[in-house]
Amino acid sequence: MARLSNYVLSLLGTFVFSQGIQAYDYLSHARSSSDALMHWYNQDTGVFNGTGWWNSAECITALADIQGIDSKSNFDDVLQNTFEINKNIWTTKSDFYDDEGWWALAWIKAYDLTRNQTYLKAAEQLFDDMAKGWTTKCNGGIWWDKDKTYVNAIANELFLSVAAHLARRTWDIKYLNWAVKEWQWFEQSGMINKNNTINDGLDGSCSNNGYTVWSYNQGVILGALVELSKASFDSSYIHIAKDIAWAAIHELTDSKGVLHETCEKGCGGDVSQFKGIFNRNVALLYTATSDPGLKQFLEVNAQSIWKNDRDSENRLGLKWSGPYDKADASTHSSALMALIAAASVQNI
Ligand SMILES: *[C@@H]1O[C@H](CO)[C@@H](O)[C@H](O)[C@H]1NC(C)=O
Ligand SMILES: *[C@@H]1O[C@H](CO)[C@@H](O)[C@H](O)[C@H]1NC(C)=O
Ligand SMILES: *[C@@H]1O[C@H](CO)[C@@H](O)[C@H](O)[C@H]1NC(C)=O
Repeated sequence: MARLSNYVLSLLGTFVFSQGIQAYDYLSHARSSSDALMHWYNQDTGVFNGTGWWNSAECITALADIQGIDSKSNFDDVLQNTFEINKNIWTTKSDFYDDEGWWALAWIKAYDLTRNQTYLKAAEQLFDDMAKGWTTKCNGGIWWDKDKTYVNAIANELFLSVAAHLARRTWDIKYLNWAVKEWQWFEQSGMINKNNTINDGLDGSCSNNGYTVWSYNQGVILGALVELSKASFDSSYIHIAKDIAWAAIHELTDSKGVLHETCEKGCGGDVSQFKGIFNRNVALLYTATSDPGLKQFLEVNAQSIWKNDRDSENRLGLKWSGPYDKADASTHSSALMALIAAASVQNI
């Protein structure tokens, strides 16, 4: 029944397109794909089969995001189940600070949806643990890992984003202070290169290591700066975010405007998660800028995913430009985030 109605919807979409009217109902596509994500949900572990611990935080974030914009979607039980099963291991399950950041952002989103303080408290607890990773090695910033081997972009962008989000939700000045301190360090750390894109991290002598410009490193920073600008009432952060977003769009999209990761012939199970994170954060930046080019970027990518990167059960693969190859909870939830991002800006 669900499959039939999706089929009818897609026929209808094709028909309407041929009449030159709005062809893509981003919200219904996002809804169908959110339901499809549940194919991989393991009720007993509270996480998604066949993918990693942090990837499940992204799956949960996507479900919370769709619920926030769609009155027909309700994943309260899933959020609650995942939380309850794993509630004692948020800060101990992983040896990586970025994993804590992903879960903190997931629970902040759950808090935004439900106003349930339990989720906010978990995010604060995760943040406190991340703050223990602050290091003087490169005059600031947090380590990527609890073994203290690497100072990189993603852990620091997440630390900034979680701090800025908590600043606006608790109004505890400690979070704003951390966010400003992290940004002041990050901005001059050397990780933002002269093209305004962000490399992976710093080498042993604290210089930009020139490693891959991954999409998610261009993304998390956008949502972080939007939140920081709101928390500090300082719009200058938005201008910086726009420069980074456009630099990334120029560097990482093909001639049709579709986003790619550099490794799409063989990305691992972490990288297959990245692109949707960029789009999710571009949508947050769009809400703060109304830049029509950003909206267009989101629409082009959502259209390409739906048209070229989907199987008959609405599962979504790694290559947004197509052809569809195979899907797992990581490729699927990543592309789902891009569908949700387009749906979230459609009427604003
Ligand atoms: C997830 O994996 C477990 C263990 O292999 C299996 O028992 C369960 O049926 C799977 N669930 C889903 C939704 O695939
Ligand atoms: C708040 O969320 C927690 C974790 O999911 C849940 O156990 C609790 O019942 C929720 N409280 C309310 C009032 O819904
Ligand atoms: C900047 O972009 C140019 C053109 O795409 C590229 O050749 C160069 O390597 C980039 N520089 C850095 C520091 O990423």
